[in-house]
Amino acid sequence: MTTDSASGHSAPFFGTQRDFWWNEDFLGLIVERLALAGTRSVLDVGCGLGHWSRVLTRVLPAVSEVTGIDAEGSWVRQARLVDADRRPPVATSVHQGRAERLPYPDARFDLVTCQTVLIHVPQVAEVLREMCRVVRPGGTVLVAEPNNLAGQLVRSSVSYQDDPEALASLIRFHATCEAGKIKLGEGDNSVGDLLPGYFAEVGLQLVGCYLSDKSSPLWPPYSSPEQSALIEAVAGAAAEERCPWSREDARRYFLAGGGSEAVFEEAWASRAWAARAELAAIQGESFWSSGGQLMYLVAGRRPSAGE
Ligand SMILES: C[S@@+](CC[C@H](N)C(=O)[O-])C[C@H]1O[C@@H](n2cnc3c(N)ncnc32)[C@H](O)[C@@H]1O
Repeated sequence: MTTDSASGHSAPFFGTQRDFWWNEDFLGLIVERLALAGTRSVLDVGCGLGHWSRVLTRVLPAVSEVTGIDAEGSWVRQARLVDADRRPPVATSVHQGRAERLPYPDARFDLVTCQTVLIHVPQVAEVLREMCRVVRPGGTVLVAEPNNLAGQLVRSSVSYQDDPEALASLIRFHATCEAGKIKLGEGDNSVGDLLPGYFAEVGLQLVGCYLSDKSSPLWPPYSSPEQSALIEAVAGAAAEERCPWSREDARRYFLAGGGSEAVFEEAWASRAWAARAELAAIQGESFWSSGGQLMYLVAGRRPSAGE
């Protein structure tokens, strides 16, 4: 789905492409492995427009109630947490609030989940502790978070012959930005790598740690709806010069991470050039890539009384 609002936290990432993030049969397998089929109540923390709830609830057959919470009022007003044609209907409600202080009583939900939210928070353990508090004893906290740095290593028909030094500079640029973002207290873009330690810190028993089996391949003539959505996202990022951050944010992060103005300017120009080259290759039908990414799905159980 597309958003009718152009502003708000993460707005550039809420395009149609987000509807293609998961293979539904993979999520079904995870539900089976984690014995979640009986889940009735779900809380989606940092729900945004509800992309995650919608795909997840498709594989939760017994779900009867889905609650979303987000800090951003515009998302709260527009979110759709389940498919409109869901039968029997599922009760939904969306609240405005912060993940660090969830306005729900202890042990309120069977399943508490989030997707690409912990990458934005300065205190990951604080949020996970809240998620653990509001899940019932024996219930599950399920977290989908990436290592975004890894994606920079994925090559395409355009970039595969790049000089190794160019690849090293690209990785150095993104690693410096990620380090700066952490230093500024705006979150860790690759927090997925560290989730087992955070789960242990807040008293969640790790019951599953998986990688999504989804990639986002592109190859000519780019005829599937998923590929069209992906190209729309690539074109949007190139037009707005995002990488994935805006120039202004990337500059702030790069400098906070210890980079210099001069190196930033050079790196940014080369990122913008690469984005335009990629788009031109798509238009000329000479672009292809397997589109790998590293998205973790990590599950923890809140211990039951006496455990
Ligand atoms: C990248 S989006 C993910 C949205 C949704 N989970 C999805 O995957 O489609 C991050 C969302 O988290 C929300 N958010 C960020 N920090 C938050 C916080 N501390 N408390 C509540 N929501 C937060 C943002 O407003 C945004 O909607």
